[in-house]
Amino acid sequence: MFKSIRWRFVLIYFLLIFLAMTIVGFFIVMQFEKIQLDMNSKNIKARVTSIYASSSAMQQDNWISNAGNIKRNVMNSIQLGYNENVYIILNDMNKTIIASSILGLEEYSAYNVERINSEILVKSINGAVAETIVKNELDNTQISHISYPLKNDGEDIKGYIYLTNDISYIYSTVDQSRDMFTRATFIALLLTIILGFIISKSITGPIKALTVKAKQMSQGDFNQKVEIKSDDEIGQLGKMFNYLIDELRMSMSRLTQEKSKIETTLTYMADGVLTVDKRGNIIHINPVAKKILSVRSKDVFYDQIISRKTHDLYLDRIEENKWNGTYVLETEKETYKVDYAPFMDGQNQIGGVILVFKNITEQFRMEKLQKEFVANVSHELKTPITTIKSYTETLLEGALEEEEVATDFLKVINSESDRMSRLVSDLLRLSRMDHEETSWTKEKININEIVKDTYTKLLLQAKSKNIKMTCNLDSRNSNVLFDKDGLEQILLNIIGNAIKYTPEGGDVSIDISSETSRVVISIKDTGVGIPKEDLNHVFERFYRVDKARTRQMGGTGLGLSIAEQIAKAHDSVIELNSEFHIGTTVDIKIPKLLK
Ligand SMILES: Nc1ncnc2c1ncn2[C@@H]1O[C@H](COP(=O)(O)OP(=O)(O)O)[C@@H](O)[C@H]1O
Ligand SMILES: [Mg+2]
Repeated sequence: MFKSIRWRFVLIYFLLIFLAMTIVGFFIVMQFEKIQLDMNSKNIKARVTSIYASSSAMQQDNWISNAGNIKRNVMNSIQLGYNENVYIILNDMNKTIIASSILGLEEYSAYNVERINSEILVKSINGAVAETIVKNELDNTQISHISYPLKNDGEDIKGYIYLTNDISYIYSTVDQSRDMFTRATFIALLLTIILGFIISKSITGPIKALTVKAKQMSQGDFNQKVEIKSDDEIGQLGKMFNYLIDELRMSMSRLTQEKSKIETTLTYMADGVLTVDKRGNIIHINPVAKKILSVRSKDVFYDQIISRKTHDLYLDRIEENKWNGTYVLETEKETYKVDYAPFMDGQNQIGGVILVFKNITEQFRMEKLQKEFVANVSHELKTPITTIKSYTETLLEGALEEEEVATDFLKVINSESDRMSRLVSDLLRLSRMDHEETSWTKEKININEIVKDTYTKLLLQAKSKNIKMTCNLDSRNSNVLFDKDGLEQILLNIIGNAIKYTPEGGDVSIDISSETSRVVISIKDTGVGIPKEDLNHVFERFYRVDKARTRQMGGTGLGLSIAEQIAKAHDSVIELNSEFHIGTTVDIKIPKLLK
């Protein structure tokens, strides 16, 4: 209980007032008593002097002969207070009483009279006034005694005036004033307690309020403000508290903002992010990482999760690598580059590790394609070169002599060179398109015209294979904005394919139709068709369904990918539908030029 400032305040006040009152009271009462007694002593001496002065008999040198007169004087002329008694004592051996205000004591030795204090009588024998206060324990009275020696002319003590005076009243007055003081002290202490409470409340009240607010604040409620009632130290404390809260609230909101920004970033970023503490507890994992690692809701430990994908990323291994490194993680379908780095805790020690999973499947695939492409190109070039080389060698070895054979050989060499040149020019075209170096001259083209031209160009080729090729034009508006050479290239390739992959006696039909916003050129054949599993790949570079056969036909495997690239550059699409052994339909869809 006394731990609270409030109680301590009251206690301190109480002790202070108590000490002050007690000490002051003690001294005042003591002083008061002293003054009273001094006054009494002076009074008594004055009484004695006046008694002596009023009795001519006493002034005589010889008291023995004047004893009768002295007695008479005492009885008649000396006025005594009700609480006073006087004894006139002779300075003889026995200190005989010659007169007394109490009857019947004459002729007695003063030593034998109980009312007379022998001690001070003896003390005054040497000529000095002696006095004392005697307390009577029985009736609780205080009697002041004075023994006053009187000298004759010869400077000898002739006798004593012995006066007693009941001064109990002085003590009772002192007692009364002491009582008064005690009561005053009590009242003062009572008031002190009450005032102490009130004053301490005015001090501890605001502190208590502050404490309550601080507690609420510690529980996360920052919407606190203390009321400032004064400009004193407590008021200042309150002001500082309010300032502190404002600052804290601002910092907290900044922190919350930052946190939510980071959380949103982490949630929506394309990379997987996983934060693990040193003991392997997962602190944070974003949705992408959850998906990559197929995390279940009951998973808590990192090692348990990562063990499903690889053992190379166990926390031990990461620690061995000094919490820093890169790892390529291959799952069934995807490939991820995992970068990990440590994060620091509050003591600037390594608190754990953050792992970032970057999906590099596409990059991986591209690299693979690149490698394949180079391999393909080399292979495609090597075949004609080998043929040319072997035919040339044969010619040089003497075949040149036989004209017929030589002509045949030279024809082969010629066609292989053509193939090589086609291949190289196709590659160049693709490469230019890849690097966006091709500049398209987009112009208004009438689809009917260009289809008709291409049809005418390929008619001979179709006829030579005994293929029936038909062309249905569309009389409606069929203007498009296209690069003329580009469109021709597309048509030549696709109609060419239709003829190429249709056996003798088959049909190829070209139809132009119109959708609301697009012109559709449909090329349909009754050819070999494309198996389902190859359909998705025929637009890839060098992809051919039947490699041996198509090469024989002079195909490079680049035609469709070139056509698709050109179409893309003109916001157009090429759709391919095919049924194996039945036939193929290719739709070229080009946005209409309205106007
Ligand atoms: N009309 C078609 N009918 C059957 N197969 C086709 C047809 N068009 C294309 N293909 C297949 O798609 C592959 C790729 O065609 P393309 O890129 O034009 O190369 P290329 O004509 O040089 O062989 C061809 O090798 C062929 O196997
Ligand atoms: Mg082709």
